[in-house]
Amino acid sequence: METMRWVDGFLEILDQTLLPGKAEYIKCEHYATVCDAIRRLSVRGAPAIGAAAAYGLALGAAALKLAGRDEFIAAVGQIARDLSATRPTAVNLQWALDRMLGVLQSNGSNSIEGLKEALLAEAHAIYAEDLASNRRMGEFGEKLIPPHAGILTHCNAGALATAGIGTALGVIRAAHQAGKNISVYADETRPLLQGARLTTWEMVQEKIPVTLLTDNMAGYLMAGGKVNLVIVGADRIAANGDVANKIGTYGVAVLAKEHGLPFYVAAPMSTVDFNIAGGREIPIENRDEREVTHFAGQQVAPAGIKVWNPAFDVTPARLVTAIITDRGVARPPYTDTLAALAGK
Ligand code: MRU
Repeated sequence: METMRWVDGFLEILDQTLLPGKAEYIKCEHYATVCDAIRRLSVRGAPAIGAAAAYGLALGAAALKLAGRDEFIAAVGQIARDLSATRPTAVNLQWALDRMLGVLQSNGSNSIEGLKEALLAEAHAIYAEDLASNRRMGEFGEKLIPPHAGILTHCNAGALATAGIGTALGVIRAAHQAGKNISVYADETRPLLQGARLTTWEMVQEKIPVTLLTDNMAGYLMAGGKVNLVIVGADRIAANGDVANKIGTYGVAVLAKEHGLPFYVAAPMSTVDFNIAGGREIPIENRDEREVTHFAGQQVAPAGIKVWNPAFDVTPARLVTAIITDRGVARPPYTDTLAALAGK
């Protein structure tokens, strides 16, 4: 099942808020629908929101009826700002939009129709490259997985979060295909249950053995010797290797350290933000308190209670054993190894 697809000039987005109960696509005829789908997590996961934003920009640009090139470029810039404002943490969103805007600069002589076509072609390229990048991460990462490993993952860094087989789950898929007889433990991932709803769903489809646990069970699972390694995705990685990922990841990394387990992060180079030296500078999204006070539509906390609901946390680089990228595996010191992989 595709996370998103371009059909007859429109973008269709698989509405992940309905999974695993229903698989329905949202037809986006206007870029505002794409903004809304990203904000409400119908499409989510760093690489997927990057690709969706790219298509959103192409969609918004295609609808513009402006004759002047400067006017057109200014209007596309505004669409990019609207898309960029939807979610602040995953850098892939801004990375994809910057790449799209770069197309306008590099096509100096093109007509407006030509620019519209070039934008759509770039969105398709971003999508296709993500697919290939997932495969490479799978190949690099699979070598780190021992036979019969018990693997804990948090949130969903799978096909649903990307254009391909996923980042962390791409490595897991590759290890499974290599016949390593792995088993997966999926944290449910409160408050929005990406682990329970999405990761287990993906694993069941692929017949990869998976066990669901609530987030507060991970320590006891490790203490019982069931886990050999942890692998997660990332929303933004600072130049020094600090990793922003779904809230709860930091706690899992601390637990992995306590139990002497490797803690791996799988992410494409587009998730590394070399403009940010360390994790403290990563903007962390705060989401609606209703996500915490309500469960499956039912209120589970007193009305008016004060709520803290950051969507992500930052795992310091010292807790990260290795970062599996689409250009190879980086090990500490990340400031040097990530830069080397990026050719900086
Ligand atoms: O809020 P979400 O569901 O968009 O958060 C997603 C994550 O934290 C993923 O682990 C991350 O984006 C990596 S996806 C390959």
